[in-house]
Amino acid sequence: MLKAVILIGGPQKGTRFRPLSLDTPKPLFPIAGKPLIQHHIEACVKLPECREILIIGSYTTTHMAQFVSDMQKEYHVIIRYLQEFTPLGTGGGLYHFRDQIRAGNPSAFFLLNGDVCADFPLKQLWYFHQERSNALVTIMGTEATREQSVHYGCLVLEEPSKSVTHYVEKPNSYVSTLINCGVYVCSLNVFHIMADAFQRKQDGFYSGNGQGTPHPGYMSWEQDVLAPLAGTKKMYAMQVTNWWSQVKTAGSAIYANRHYLMLSNKQDEDAKKDICHVFSEVFIHPSASVDPTAVIGPNVSIGAGVTIKAGVRIKESIILNNATIHEHSLVMYSVVGQEASVGEWSRVEGTPSDPDPNKPFAKMDNTPLFNTDGRLNPSVSILGAGVVVPAETILLNSIVLPHKHLTRSFKHEIIL
Ligand code: GDD
Repeated sequence: MLKAVILIGGPQKGTRFRPLSLDTPKPLFPIAGKPLIQHHIEACVKLPECREILIIGSYTTTHMAQFVSDMQKEYHVIIRYLQEFTPLGTGGGLYHFRDQIRAGNPSAFFLLNGDVCADFPLKQLWYFHQERSNALVTIMGTEATREQSVHYGCLVLEEPSKSVTHYVEKPNSYVSTLINCGVYVCSLNVFHIMADAFQRKQDGFYSGNGQGTPHPGYMSWEQDVLAPLAGTKKMYAMQVTNWWSQVKTAGSAIYANRHYLMLSNKQDEDAKKDICHVFSEVFIHPSASVDPTAVIGPNVSIGAGVTIKAGVRIKESIILNNATIHEHSLVMYSVVGQEASVGEWSRVEGTPSDPDPNKPFAKMDNTPLFNTDGRLNPSVSILGAGVVVPAETILLNSIVLPHKHLTRSFKHEIIL
């Protein structure tokens, strides 16, 4: 039997995802028509041995209860949400809930960062881990560019065994282009290593060396567990070339949307053509009402209850539940929030922030909202929930906070 643990953080994480995370916790933000971590759950349930999925975070249970109950019904595996009483870091929550993970004595458990998206190769990862009998942790690794690698955990491997000889979390200078994807298989014995790390942290915290540590139970999986495991021949990495990306910003959500749509392509293409003219990679919720003269795609997800009126053009965008896009307006490289409305002949447009196609292994640059001059970095446009864009208005590279009723055009602005 196998289990899976998904780390989702809490409301204080995901700040680069605002204002989208103001109404919906980031792990539940819909990408390709499904909450972000539903894609993780789908990957886990493809393995028949995976019987239980534990979601660990510090969102309140009220935020997560409906989702967990929906997932249980849909996938018929045990899915539970375990709430940290305070953010305990990537390792602290895992250690705190170790008895729940060990219950039933699973052969191993997958550990997945909730803010990554991928064509998760969990079966191969599990085989790879099993082939190495002394492995406590197997990391899914992928190649990044030299410049971008320093924003991730960096791995150095011994060949041909693939054991990790060196691990540095977000190094100050170049270490390796092989990076940690935040996807792991762990044997239960990893908790012995974590117990030692926990003890060291406790000693440090109570002797005053733990200054800056927010809580005595706080532990970093990467710094307190992975880094010391390097060089012990108990940690390995499987390098993959599958599609993988982080979801940190709204721009990365649009990028993830395209890839998940390409992977699933579930909806019947012919059925969609009956609704309106659609390009590839489009998800339209069955309850959405789309005028036959609208032109949708590529890379568009349209949520439940959305209304798309005549002559509308939408590409590279996510339209959230119950939004209305009025006649002849254009939406591209944008996220339109729940219940928002775009008036007739208006144009809502952002700037794509895809990885550089000319650089092999380039990942998304999760650029901060503002550049060093304090100006907004060009990115996708975001309309928060309930925003109203009047008719004949242009909104370019702008972010509008929820429930604003705009009265004119804006470009490169945050409208508070
Ligand atoms: N339960 C819980 N509690 N989850 C947490 C906490 C916490 O206190 N803090 C962070 N997480 C979750 C986040 O929600 C996210 O899904 C995941 O753990 C990673 O946390 P971050 O702190 O955002 O790390 P990162 O994304 O910058 O870097 C990590 O992921 C990279 C791959 O995406 C590291 O593991 C890197 O080494 C790795 O390359």
